[in-house]
Amino acid sequence: MTGALVYRPMRPGEAGAVCDLVLRAFRAAIAPGTSARGITTFLGLLSYDWLGRTATAPGSCVLVAAYEDRPVGVIAVERTPATGREGHIALLFVDPSHQGEGIGRGLLRAAIRHGHAAAAPLAALTVNASTNAVRFYESVGFRRSGPTETDDGLFTVPLRKTVASVAGRDAAGDGR
Ligand SMILES: CC(C)(COP(=O)(O)OP(=O)(O)OC[C@H]1O[C@@H](n2cnc3c(N)ncnc32)[C@H](O)[C@@H]1OP(=O)(O)O)[C@@H](O)C(=O)NCCC(=O)NCCS
Repeated sequence: MTGALVYRPMRPGEAGAVCDLVLRAFRAAIAPGTSARGITTFLGLLSYDWLGRTATAPGSCVLVAAYEDRPVGVIAVERTPATGREGHIALLFVDPSHQGEGIGRGLLRAAIRHGHAAAAPLAALTVNASTNAVRFYESVGFRRSGPTETDDGLFTVPLRKTVASVAGRDAAGDGR
């Protein structure tokens, strides 16, 4: 792969490329173990409109990892007045041809940096992880916060990570 990998906000007009990479990763890693109902649920959640709204909502973000103009990974973190300083990872996907290269960890680090720079600095991240991704989240410092849940055919594991206490280490490049 030529060019440097950069982590940056999703640009207007990139929602199509982002949805394509999410669908490639979902088909490869999650769809084979998911019922038709679960696949329909997931597809119903992903839209250009939702990506655009999340990218511009205060405290929320949609960040991509990209080689030049080609996104190869995406993270979306939602924050609302109700969640306060806690952000929820709604999307974290790396293109199958680039998994295992540290991009997932890098996206997480970029989202934490973005969250620390917000008016109300980020204090914790939560995620409802697909079962195949639990070991990834545990390896970057998340801990289970409840039992496996099922929602409209999707099985997820709730995990949580406090981030305020590691702000200095994160700024120094430690991904955890
Ligand atoms: C899960 C995912 C986002 C991780 O991104 P990635 O770029 O492949 O992961 P990284 O290379 O940054 O790995 C970071 C660490 O997690 C570990 N890891 C990554 N995927 C793993 C897996 N499936 N099982 C166990 N460990 C895993 C790596 O070994 C690494 O640990 P180390 O630094 O101690 O060696 C990516 O593999 C993906 O998109 N998977 C399919 C879609 C998915 O499940 N998304 C999550 C939905 S909640």
